[in-house]
Amino acid sequence: MKSRSSRKKIVLATSNPGKLREIRRCFKGLPLEFLSLRDIGGSGDVEEKGTTFLENAKLKSLAYSSLSEYATLAEDSGLEVDHLDGDPGVLSARYSDPGATEKKNIRKVLRQMKNVPWPGRRARFVCQLVLSHRGRVIKTCRGQVRGFIALEKKGDRGFGYDPIFFYRPFGKTFGELRPEIKNTVSHRGRALKKMRIFLLRHAGADDKRT
Ligand code: IMP
Repeated sequence: MKSRSSRKKIVLATSNPGKLREIRRCFKGLPLEFLSLRDIGGSGDVEEKGTTFLENAKLKSLAYSSLSEYATLAEDSGLEVDHLDGDPGVLSARYSDPGATEKKNIRKVLRQMKNVPWPGRRARFVCQLVLSHRGRVIKTCRGQVRGFIALEKKGDRGFGYDPIFFYRPFGKTFGELRPEIKNTVSHRGRALKKMRIFLLRHAGADDKRT
């Protein structure tokens, strides 16, 4: 088995604690060493001026990959509501600007969806992952999950819009799911599963998932 220091290193280029938790959980057992932005002295946000999740994930991945010699994984994700023509979309984190918070973002979506009957409450979460190395994109993976905007908040797990994202197969919001259950069906879990297979092939070792 390779020692920790001889393992290939990958920078996880996100400072969102909710995302980091899910990424680390999905990559558990991979024979790689994961670094944070802080480990490579990365600071400050990259301006997300793209109009798609892919554009923004590329912007972040390429910008942060120029800070170190390591492959760098960035992601952009968000909620798209059919009735709102795909909003909040790439603005998900800042939807209730100025001074956006998760609570205010949720309140805004619920207000906009007030009186919209159940079939019209369709929504999806999308996650776009981009892995870059030395200024070049080497792999992109996308995942999505369909659900509905709940009538009210339910559950206090997860982060962001989880408490108002109702997932019909489980009859629960994502905010009510244990993290390991959310990861099996979520947009991020699905994208990470594809990336895991790619990383495993390139780390040149067996899957050590327990
Ligand atoms: P960004 O990718 O950092 O620009 O922000 C993505 C935003 O989308 C987050 O701040 C959340 O508001 C929302 N989001 C993305 N993924 C999830 C999720 O798994 N659950 C709940 N909200 C999410």
